[in-house]
Amino acid sequence: MDKCIKGQMKHSSRSFQAETPRDQDPKTVRTKFLLDNQDPRALILMDNSDYHSFRDKASKVLKNKVRFAPIEERKDTTELSYEAICSISHGKWQTCWRGVDMLKDPLDLVIVQHLLWELKPQTVVELGAYKGGSALWTADMLKMFGCKSRVISVDIDLSLLDPEAKKSPDVEFIEGDIMDIEKLLPEEFLETLVHPWFVVDDAHANLKGVLEYFDRFTQPGDYICVEDTNPIVPALMDQGLIREKLNQLKSFLSGRSQRYLVDQRYTDFFGYNATWNTNGFLKRV
Ligand SMILES: C[S@@+](CC[C@H](N)C(=O)[O-])C[C@H]1O[C@@H](n2cnc3c(N)ncnc32)[C@H](O)[C@@H]1O
Repeated sequence: MDKCIKGQMKHSSRSFQAETPRDQDPKTVRTKFLLDNQDPRALILMDNSDYHSFRDKASKVLKNKVRFAPIEERKDTTELSYEAICSISHGKWQTCWRGVDMLKDPLDLVIVQHLLWELKPQTVVELGAYKGGSALWTADMLKMFGCKSRVISVDIDLSLLDPEAKKSPDVEFIEGDIMDIEKLLPEEFLETLVHPWFVVDDAHANLKGVLEYFDRFTQPGDYICVEDTNPIVPALMDQGLIREKLNQLKSFLSGRSQRYLVDQRYTDFFGYNATWNTNGFLKRV
């Protein structure tokens, strides 16, 4: 604190405190803001207080991009470095919602929150509940948004479920094996679920089989999120099971570009595939 001086910045009708290094005049502090790594001309200098410009310019970059693309046009690369993933993972493994562990990184929590707000899914099907933290978070988000959604979360072993998640009236937990997805979520059951759907695969088993099964029931407008396809993450965690996920996703999507497109707004929200879910946000079109 003693290395800083306090500066007052006016923003709309509010004023707030900002900490600025002692040797710099707060009025002249400038920030380098790289909007698009691919284009060095996008490196612009703005006043720290110019938040409206930041927002407008950033949203222009996103708006100018074609939003939906077939996976064949996407690269498998990610702008997240190995070091960044290692560092963020420390927090990821400690992330909770209402005291319940959830295996989510901060980037995808923000991305999915935007997606839920935009989609307002009537049904969420999560594969892989673990302690129930992510299902609880999803149900709470949708409730706050005023959605009366049905949130279903399945797991092969619900004994790990946290009591806080278990007692939630807003999530239905179902125990069973997605290797036998037809039996676990039978046709007659899926046909009762109101669209649009948000289907999340976070169980890392039988991905192609699961996607092929759901493909029989999805409708235009539905979203599927395939988690942990980032090629750096499995190597880091040595999770052999999920190493193949991106290949299985590509294999499923091969020949289905008329049905599913990658939503680049979400995959690239923080930079090209700056997500744990490389090319993993799919819209049924
Ligand atoms: C990564 S965790 C889910 C994390 C949770 N979605 C979260 O964000 O907190 C994966 C879960 O998938 C479950 N799982 C693994 N194989 C499965 C299978 N064949 N069928 C159903 N669930 C399975 C595991 O029991 C584990 O709880």
